[in-house]
Amino acid sequence: MASIKKITFAAAMKYISEIEKRKTFAIISHPDAGKTTLTEKFLLFGGAIQTAGAVKSNKIKKHATSDFMEIERQRGISVATSVMTFEYDGHLINLLDTPGHKDFAEDTFRTLTAVDSVVLVIDSVNGVEPQTRRLMEVIAMRKTPVIVFINKMDRDGKNRFDLLEEIENELKIQLHPMTVPINSGKDFKGVYDLHEKSLVLFTAGTKANDEDVVKISDLNDPILNAKIGERDADTLREDVELIDGVYGALNEADYLSGNTAPVFFGSAVNNFGVKEMLDTFIRIAPTPRPRHTTTRDILPSEDKFSGFIFKIHANLDPKHRDRIAFLRVCSGKFSRSTYYKHVRLEKDIRFNNPYSFLARQKDVIEEAFPGDVVGLFDTGNFKIGDTLTEGESFFFTGIPSFSPEIFKEVVNKDPLKTKQLEKGLNQLTDEGVAQLFTQFGGNKKIIGCVGELQFEVIQYRLLQEYGASVQMNSMPFYKACWITSDNPKKLEDFTKYKQANIAEDKDGHLVYLAQSEWFLNTEITNNPDIKFHFTSEIN
Ligand code: G4P
Repeated sequence: MASIKKITFAAAMKYISEIEKRKTFAIISHPDAGKTTLTEKFLLFGGAIQTAGAVKSNKIKKHATSDFMEIERQRGISVATSVMTFEYDGHLINLLDTPGHKDFAEDTFRTLTAVDSVVLVIDSVNGVEPQTRRLMEVIAMRKTPVIVFINKMDRDGKNRFDLLEEIENELKIQLHPMTVPINSGKDFKGVYDLHEKSLVLFTAGTKANDEDVVKISDLNDPILNAKIGERDADTLREDVELIDGVYGALNEADYLSGNTAPVFFGSAVNNFGVKEMLDTFIRIAPTPRPRHTTTRDILPSEDKFSGFIFKIHANLDPKHRDRIAFLRVCSGKFSRSTYYKHVRLEKDIRFNNPYSFLARQKDVIEEAFPGDVVGLFDTGNFKIGDTLTEGESFFFTGIPSFSPEIFKEVVNKDPLKTKQLEKGLNQLTDEGVAQLFTQFGGNKKIIGCVGELQFEVIQYRLLQEYGASVQMNSMPFYKACWITSDNPKKLEDFTKYKQANIAEDKDGHLVYLAQSEWFLNTEITNNPDIKFHFTSEIN
């Protein structure tokens, strides 16, 4: 069990006001549920943008490399959209963007390692969708606090109670309704806010204003009937009684431990129900939290700086090849032009032009605090998961690679470009675009990805950026699992016997490539001494 280092009271108080101000989170959803729309409304409330339509969707509408590259090029120019920082009600909020396309799910998973909480958007018509399920697996693994926003209440959605039950069952999380919807679709009249004890009335196409909020602490008040009609008022009373009886008041500790998710109903495009959620978020969402490392737990209030790289963004402008590494500050204060220890490389490096993402511009910053994300120019020093400290040696844990699901052999089409290919493959996989495996006992290079589109992007970038032309041949594997054993002889025998299915990852860890679920399960059953891991974090 990692221990928490004792720190002096003075040191703990040094940055406390900065830490208490910050909330770092991500909005996640299955594509089309309304993530971009909700992001935009948050930014409007935060004053970071002035008009609707200012937030560009990062959605890839077609399955086309050119489409993706275009988005990447735009983002390369304006990397600022990857992190949006805004102020609201005295708080500094860092909203981390996540890719919408499922083929880039791993990028989303990694971004989730850098946040302290998430808002999950669910489409009230479609309910729980595949991408929602996968995202929630990662969220559950990390016990990240979740607030759920059930969107598109202006459309004829599922019955509110069926929907809550579906979410609870499918996502294996306890829900806690914070608002109760009054109908849906064209009959949607608004929500009753259980915390504020007020009725928020909905008029399509307009945003809720103060006149639409009616304080009703006693639901038997005749004003309720006057506002929404007798039938809906009766249903609302029953709903509230039922919900109050089952759920009671929100237990914030259960939310913070990732066991209970407060739920809001609304319509992002109509800016309805969003403010209620944002106000609750400000009230209950965690400030920067302690982080696990290989040696001990790191508190944000420690006076020494530490942080980790969770994302690397290539600059696709051929004239400026620098990459941008995204650093999440975990403790102490990060300062410009100061030497920090790059723990993996065991060398000190400093950053003269670190930048922040305030108000959609790249601004060079002098300092940053826990919860902040800093963009660092990188010429190839970083890979995902790298740790920076003020001298201490440890690595932040919980930033794994996930088992890829599609595999292709990389065949070099131009022997004169072997070196460039090697470099390209190394750099692209450091960025986390894909995982690189070398077949055991040979030198066959195998790339593992989550989605097809990633292969196209790799092929395109290898040619464009490194001049290396490759062919990608499909390989009949279904999953890659990292393997370890307490018995070295058993591991050696297994690797020898299964040579055609064994590879090494970039760090020299052994990986078993299974042809099918059946093969994998058979090997797991037949080899009790071998441990099969579904993420690269095998310590
Ligand atoms: P995403 O980032 O999660 O992929 O979703 P996004 O916000 O882009 O929303 C997907 C579509 O759903 C958009 O329509 C958006 O306008 C719509 N939408 C978002 N919130 C609501 C809502 O509360 N009610 C209804 N009825 N629709 C909503 P689109 O036609 O795909 O794009 P656009 O042309 O309207 O921008």
